[in-house]
Amino acid sequence: MRIDVLTIFPEFFTQVFDFGIIRRAKLADLVEINVHDIREFAADKHKMVDDRPFGGGDGMVMKPEPIFAAIENLLGTSNADEYPKGTSVVLLSPQGTTLRQSVAKELADDIDHLILICGRYEGVDERVNETLVSREISIGDYVLSGGEPAAVVLVDAIVRLLPDALGSDTSAENDSFSDGLLDCPHYTRPAEFRGMKVPEVLLNGNHAEIEKWRREKALEKTKLTRKDLLEGENGDM
Ligand code: ADE
Repeated sequence: MRIDVLTIFPEFFTQVFDFGIIRRAKLADLVEINVHDIREFAADKHKMVDDRPFGGGDGMVMKPEPIFAAIENLLGTSNADEYPKGTSVVLLSPQGTTLRQSVAKELADDIDHLILICGRYEGVDERVNETLVSREISIGDYVLSGGEPAAVVLVDAIVRLLPDALGSDTSAENDSFSDGLLDCPHYTRPAEFRGMKVPEVLLNGNHAEIEKWRREKALEKTKLTRKDLLEGENGDM
């Protein structure tokens, strides 16, 4: 997979993709990640990337021209109908559909060229959304100062799902949400720490019993903290 991130703060990403699973995936050529400064595509001498909103109001709006130019530079077109197959242009914004495991999985499975536009200020000129954007994604019902942290979250959620990105195939299958439940608790050595003991069932080597215990604990935890998952309110996990 190739990922291109469009941002006015390229320095934000200096090291963030250089750790753990993402770093390993890059080294193994499972993913290539490029970060582009939107400002470099601004044609005017002041390299303006934002301007005041028509109709008045607070804040600044990101201008369309540099973003169109950046997309044309990457894809050779700013007509979404002409994007190559397997290409998706995602705008990170609080107005998008909420990121879920199923969305990350869909992108990991179906997309080989992902372009992320990090919105800033009060928003992005709507013509970007209308013309360039394949889908708008939010990472949750809260407002960040910009799409950059959201882009990092999305990249992480996708890259770990790419084939061979994790040490063993079963790791992603056992993640929270992969079966609609939260993950079960985990323990490692020592078997007793400051008087706190690891549940006996995990020590006895009976795999059927261990699986049963894990399923029960996952259900218990989901009931306690995310009842909505069981009631199908977020049923597209
Ligand atoms: N930009 C600002 N807030 C955001 C959010 N919740 N998700 C994605 N991008 C954002």
